[in-house]
Amino acid sequence: MSTLEATASKITDQPIIDQLIEHTCAEMEEVNKLLLSRVGSHVEMVPQISNYLISAGGKRLRPMLTVAAALMFAPKDQQHISYAAAIEFMHTATLLHDDVVDESDKRRGQQAPRKIWGNAASVLVGDFLLGQAFMMMVEAGNLEALGILSRSAAIIAEGEVFQLSIAKDFNTKIDDYFEVVKAKTAALFEAATEVGAMAGGANSAERAALKTYGAQLGIAFQLVDDALDYGGMSGTIGKNVGDDLREGKMTLPILHALQNAADADAQFVRDNLGDQGANQATVEKVVGILLSCGALKTTLNRAREHANLAKAALEPLATRNGAQILIEIADYCVERAA
Ligand code: IPE
Ligand code: IPE
Ligand code: MG
Ligand code: MG
Repeated sequence: MSTLEATASKITDQPIIDQLIEHTCAEMEEVNKLLLSRVGSHVEMVPQISNYLISAGGKRLRPMLTVAAALMFAPKDQQHISYAAAIEFMHTATLLHDDVVDESDKRRGQQAPRKIWGNAASVLVGDFLLGQAFMMMVEAGNLEALGILSRSAAIIAEGEVFQLSIAKDFNTKIDDYFEVVKAKTAALFEAATEVGAMAGGANSAERAALKTYGAQLGIAFQLVDDALDYGGMSGTIGKNVGDDLREGKMTLPILHALQNAADADAQFVRDNLGDQGANQATVEKVVGILLSCGALKTTLNRAREHANLAKAALEPLATRNGAQILIEIADYCVERAA
């Protein structure tokens, strides 16, 4: 094998997420600079909490998707950097809020900010970041993109409220679950890829393809998140396994088990769903039930279906710069363990 072939095969062997990181690294450096430059405030707790969460990392998947969508075309100015940063701030804000709503103790492998600074501070700093996100969008100067991102912010909040309203509701339908997923998670992925395409100068068909790609990818991503909440490892996902059970979330693994598990098992799930004090043994028993009735497998199969729809949406653009990375990232979203 020639050196060139060896290098080529090494690039291909590289995990796809690393390829996306490499593909977007110059722009993501700018995005990270922008993020850090926008958390400043004379009110000490604002940068303290923001930096705590931002420096804990996170995958930065959404801003990388925005950048990669733009790079498929020809971004002329820095709009894609501003949108990517704004989207990561929106995401960070939703995490601050979400951990309050879900009463979660762990985020990005460390204590959730609310455990250190409290719920009130978490909500307010989330609002600050949301405000900063909108300022960045306004500065980017594209009213249409501002509209897309503002709409997604409203839809995310609506999805979280809908989820809250159906917690522990045994009449929840699978369609209700998908409505929640599309709103609370897929809406931001969809906006991320659509505004990326816009910033790159995509035409309307190309933009629509990337919008569909983002929406389908977001659904797959959340389905896997919901499977990992039962089947993942706390150390790897950086969150506590079983949080969704304690919160009474009507996620697909639970809905599947309620319909398909043996009567006694379904009853055990019903009895423990929403029990804030559910201990590790209870969570483990529920995980066993979800495994044996095929709930986790079904959830991952559904995720795979949406990932395939995401890939199909990009097929017409398959020869564009970096398109193959985005196509394969759909597999990563299904196979990921973190
Ligand atoms: C967590 O998103 C919230 C969900 C939509 C499931 P990520 O898993 O992308 O979180 P970070 O940014 O990597 O921490
Ligand atoms: C994620 O929902 C959606 C938002 C953060 C808006 P989850 O509640 O499942 O996310 P995690 O599991 O806490 O990251
Ligand atoms: Mg949560
Ligand atoms: Mg979750």
